[in-house]
Amino acid sequence: MTIDVHFYDPSDHHGLAHDPFKAILAPRVIGWISTCNAQGQANLAPYSFFGAFSSNPKIIGFSSEGYKDTMRNIEETGEFTWNLTSRALADAMNRSAAPVTPNVNEFELAGLTQVPGRHVKAPRVGESPAALECKLLKILRLEALDGHTTHNWIAFGQVVGVHIRRDFIHNGLFDLKAAQPILRAGYRGDYATLGEMFEMIRPDA
Ligand SMILES: Cc1cc2nc3c(=O)[nH]c(=O)nc-3n(C[C@H](O)[C@H](O)[C@H](O)COP(=O)(O)O)c2cc1C
Repeated sequence: MTIDVHFYDPSDHHGLAHDPFKAILAPRVIGWISTCNAQGQANLAPYSFFGAFSSNPKIIGFSSEGYKDTMRNIEETGEFTWNLTSRALADAMNRSAAPVTPNVNEFELAGLTQVPGRHVKAPRVGESPAALECKLLKILRLEALDGHTTHNWIAFGQVVGVHIRRDFIHNGLFDLKAAQPILRAGYRGDYATLGEMFEMIRPDA
């Protein structure tokens, strides 16, 4: 049986109604990143080009399309914190994405509680079910195949502190269903919550 496939070279037009790239690579965990600058001014913004890359040591990272306040703060201080974006915090997360000047504190803009970090100066979102304090390992500016330097930066950080709200710990487990993370999915303005979960044990387990 031949399965009919739409193929395109990304340097050409995709030939569809909208660019499908972000819809194919979905759903994505949102990196809701809090930082502060060298003067202690707090900043908060969502980044959905986000991932976990190592569990021992725990390393996470996210990419910025353009050199934004978050990346500048991380370069200045060497620290950032990831905050879990729950369904209850969706509107606040969206408000924190506003393109405001560096002197605007998005915690205040979004009506969120700014809680001081334990091991980093970056504050965390007090309402968030979980947060990961990170120290910067590396900032990488991406280069394309043709060798040109892009306007995309990736920050990799090692987790140095883990916060979990006790009301989301049940029977010794982080209750992901109760936390209700929201995920970036599909096209502009599309989000998802956790759907059906199922268990499958690895062959080597
Ligand atoms: C759900 C969501 C995901 C986003 N993901 C990214 C991303 O992966 N990379 C990026 O550069 N901007 C992303 N943005 C846009 C930034 O949040 C926005 O440019 C923000 O103003 C940056 O803030 P900052 O300058 O304080 O860092 C996203 C926005 C939303 C609402």
